[in-house]
Amino acid sequence: MSSRQSLNSWKKLEILAEEKQSQHMNDLFANDSQRFDKFSIELPKLLLDYSKNLIDSDVMTALFALADECEVTQWRKKMFAGDKINKTEDRAVLHTALRRSDTTPLWVDGENISESVASQLTKMEDFVNRVRQGHWLGYSGKRITDIVNIGVGGSNLGPQMVTEALKHYSDNSVNVHYVSNVDGAQIVEILRPLDPEKVLFIVSSKTFTTTETMTNAKTAINWLTASSFDDKSVAKHFVAVTANKENAMSFGIEADNIFDMWDWVGGRFSLWSAIGLAIALDLGFDKFKDLLAGANEMDQHFADAPIEQNMPAIMALLSVWNTTFLGAKSQAILPYDQTLHMLAAYLQQAEMESNGKSVSWDGDEINYATVPSIWGELGINGQHAFYQLIHQGTDIIPCEFMIAAQGHEPDLAHHHRLLVANCLAQSEALMRGRTKAEALSLLAESGFAMEELERQAEHRVFPGNRPSVTLIYPQLTPYVLGQIIALYEHRVFVEGVILGINSFDQWGVELGKELAKSLEPMVDGSKGCDGKDGSTASLIAFVLEQRH
Ligand code: F6P
Repeated sequence: MSSRQSLNSWKKLEILAEEKQSQHMNDLFANDSQRFDKFSIELPKLLLDYSKNLIDSDVMTALFALADECEVTQWRKKMFAGDKINKTEDRAVLHTALRRSDTTPLWVDGENISESVASQLTKMEDFVNRVRQGHWLGYSGKRITDIVNIGVGGSNLGPQMVTEALKHYSDNSVNVHYVSNVDGAQIVEILRPLDPEKVLFIVSSKTFTTTETMTNAKTAINWLTASSFDDKSVAKHFVAVTANKENAMSFGIEADNIFDMWDWVGGRFSLWSAIGLAIALDLGFDKFKDLLAGANEMDQHFADAPIEQNMPAIMALLSVWNTTFLGAKSQAILPYDQTLHMLAAYLQQAEMESNGKSVSWDGDEINYATVPSIWGELGINGQHAFYQLIHQGTDIIPCEFMIAAQGHEPDLAHHHRLLVANCLAQSEALMRGRTKAEALSLLAESGFAMEELERQAEHRVFPGNRPSVTLIYPQLTPYVLGQIIALYEHRVFVEGVILGINSFDQWGVELGKELAKSLEPMVDGSKGCDGKDGSTASLIAFVLEQRH
C-alpha cells in the first residue's frame, strides 16, 4: 500500500465512494436548495459550477482533508518560492515568475530571475514593435508579413492554442503560422504561398536538440537561402527561443537573435516566456501583457486562497475524486467557443505529460489510478458526434464545459444564445437523465403502444447522474484566457501533489525518441535490422520493399 493510500482521508474517501455510487444527483439537488451556492466558486471574471458532481459536504470535507494530509499548501509555497520540487531533474518550477507583477528579487541558483524575466520581456517588446511597425526588414529590404513558428510540444501547443483562441484580438499586422510536425507535408503547405523575402522564422525549442524541430528549421533555412543565395540572410529571417544558446548559435542563429528560456520553466508551461513570441507578434505586446496579467491574477488567487475556496485546488480534487475514487477513465474537455478548438490538445500535454505516471516521486510503484485520458472537441461539433456515448455509453466520462456569456459577433447574438442554451442543456441532461417512466409517457404521447412502446422506451432512457463542471466567463479576452490557462496549470500541480507524482518531468517520452534515432539508419536502408524484434524488422522490410 502506498503512503497516500494509508492516509485517513484516503480511506474515508474510499468508503464515501462506495456509498455515493448508489446516490443520484437529482436527489442531492432536490434535498438541498443551497447546493449551487455550496458547490460553485466565483472569481473576478470566472464562475465555476461544480455542483453537478457526485459530491456532498462529507465528500468535500474528506477531499479537503486529503489536500491537507498531502500538504498541498506547503508544496504550493515551495513552488512559488523556487524550491527545486522537480526532483528528478533537480529544477525549480517557476512559470509563475514569468507573469509576476511583483518585481522583488527571486533567486534561483544565485540568479535573480526577476531581472532575467524583465530583461527578456523588454527584449521581446522591442522586437515585437520593430517587426509589427515594419522596422525589422528582410534581406531585400521588405517588411515582414508572415511569421512561422517552428517548434513542437510545449514549444507549439500553448502558443498556437492561444493564437487561435485570441484571433479576434489580432490586428493582422502579421500572419502567424505554426510548423510542428516533421511530416514534410506540413511545412511544404505552409511555405508554398509565402514570399521568403517577407518571412520571419522563430525556432522555438527549450533544448534545441529536438530532432523534428531541428529538421524543420534546416528545411526553412534551405528554403530561405535558395531565394537569397546568401547565408547572411539567416540573420534577418531567423530568431530562436531556447535555454541552450550554444546549440542555437552553432545551428547558425545570431547571438542577438536568441531569446532566453530557462530550465526552471517546463516546456508545457512556457507560453508566458519568449516561447509566446508568436502570440505577441500577432496581438501586439500590450495584449500579450494582458494575457500575463490574467494568469498572474489566477496565481495570486491560487497562492493566497484557502484550499476550500481555491478554484484550481477544487478542480484538482474533483478530478482525483472522479478518477481515482469513482473510477472514471477519461475526461472530456468541451469548450463551446469556436476559437478554443485547440484547447483539448493543449490540455492533453498539460495533464497527461505531467501526471500520466505510475511511479511516485519516491520511486514507488503507484497502484491507484492517476490522470485520466484527456480528450475533447468543440461542444457543438461533439454533440453531433460522440455525445451519444457520453450520455448513454457504458463508461462514465466527467465533462468540463466552458462558455462565454457573450460572444465576439454582436450581429450574431442569436447564434450565441443557441450556443449557451446547448452548453447548459448538455450538463443538465447528463445530470438529470430520463427515467423509463418519462420515456414511456413521451412515446405514448407520440402514438406508440403495447410491446412496441415498451421496446422503444428502453432506448430512450438516460441514466443521468453523470458528472460535469461548467466554467463561465464574460468573454474570451486575453486576460480571461490567461486566467483559464493558469487555472489548469495549477490544477495539474495540485493533482500531482495529491497523487504523489512529480508533475514536471516527462521521462516517458524518452524511450521512443532513443529508438527513433536508432531506427533511422535502418529505415533509410544503410543499416541492417539485426537485433530488432520480428515485428519491427518486418515493418521496416515492408517499407524498404515498397520504396524500391
Ligand atoms: O518530447 C516531449 C518534449 O520534451 C516536451 O516536454 C517538450 O515540450 C517538447 O518535447 C519540445 O521540446 P523542446 O522545446 O526542447 O524542443
